[in-house]
Amino acid sequence: MKTIVSLAEMQQFSEKTRLGKKVIGLVPTMGYLHKGHLSLIARAKRSCDVVIVSIFVNPAQFSPQEDFARYPRDMARDARLCKSAGASVLFAPREGEMYPEGYSTYVSLEQLSSTLEGKFRPTHFRGVATVVTKLFSLTKPHKAFFGQKDAQQCVVVKRMVKDLNLGIEVVVSPIVREKDGLAMSSRNVYLSEAERGEALVLYASLCHARELVAEGERDAGRIAAAMRQMIERRPSAKIDYVAVVDAESLADVGTLERGRRVLVALAVRFGATRLIDNTLVKIR
Ligand code: PAJ
Repeated sequence: MKTIVSLAEMQQFSEKTRLGKKVIGLVPTMGYLHKGHLSLIARAKRSCDVVIVSIFVNPAQFSPQEDFARYPRDMARDARLCKSAGASVLFAPREGEMYPEGYSTYVSLEQLSSTLEGKFRPTHFRGVATVVTKLFSLTKPHKAFFGQKDAQQCVVVKRMVKDLNLGIEVVVSPIVREKDGLAMSSRNVYLSEAERGEALVLYASLCHARELVAEGERDAGRIAAAMRQMIERRPSAKIDYVAVVDAESLADVGTLERGRRVLVALAVRFGATRLIDNTLVKIR
């Protein structure tokens, strides 16, 4: 596995790889890798000749009150994991080269980025769309691999790729969970033991939503209310949102109509740690 830090070297490498008719897959990450990330690398390896894993904790997607400074980092461990997962290149650009003095160009979506996560993190998707665009232009992938864990991020990136004619296939992989159901996240290390126990209610509430749908419940408001009730029983849980929305447009739905794909998504804080999770439900 090759490690590349310099942006010029990354671009030269990807241009050369493209000339050699090799299929390039990009797995963008902020590091502190876990099995969720590794599942994306494995998926990329199945259909790409060259798999580039980027590790960059992107300051542009954190608000000043968020956890940028304390976001967990362990480059040596990440490099070992990338290597054993079979990545071809670890791309770890430096902040000063990604956002040099005078940097002033941002990509922002008119829609899709102000609902759900966007209501609580107004500049988040502008930061994501900007860094993903930069990573795309640096690594020139044919395919890019994202996790369903960040459902809205997937919708935003797909829209951006389409709108800007980037010609990259966006491949989305399912959420990888711990044995007890907690969705894997680099931020789980922030949780105290008690908070971690209480956080299991998130997956339980999503499973409950699926059960309600399976039993015939078609009122989105009632599903969200039942989930809220479950979550609110945990003393340290503070709900940012529990939403039942259209899986493509992210627009609120009142009634779950047959044939529709809905996204049941939530963000809940446990102490200082904010967790997100979701499930996709096809209405039959
Ligand atoms: P990060 O949170 O490191 O996640 C990198 C990728 O791993 C994302 O596509 C995310 O959805 C996926 N992922 C995280 N946890 C997962 C899980 N439990 N199961 C499956 N996939 C999971 O998302 C980002 O970084 C950044 O916003 C980034 C796209 C790199 C832009 O900075």
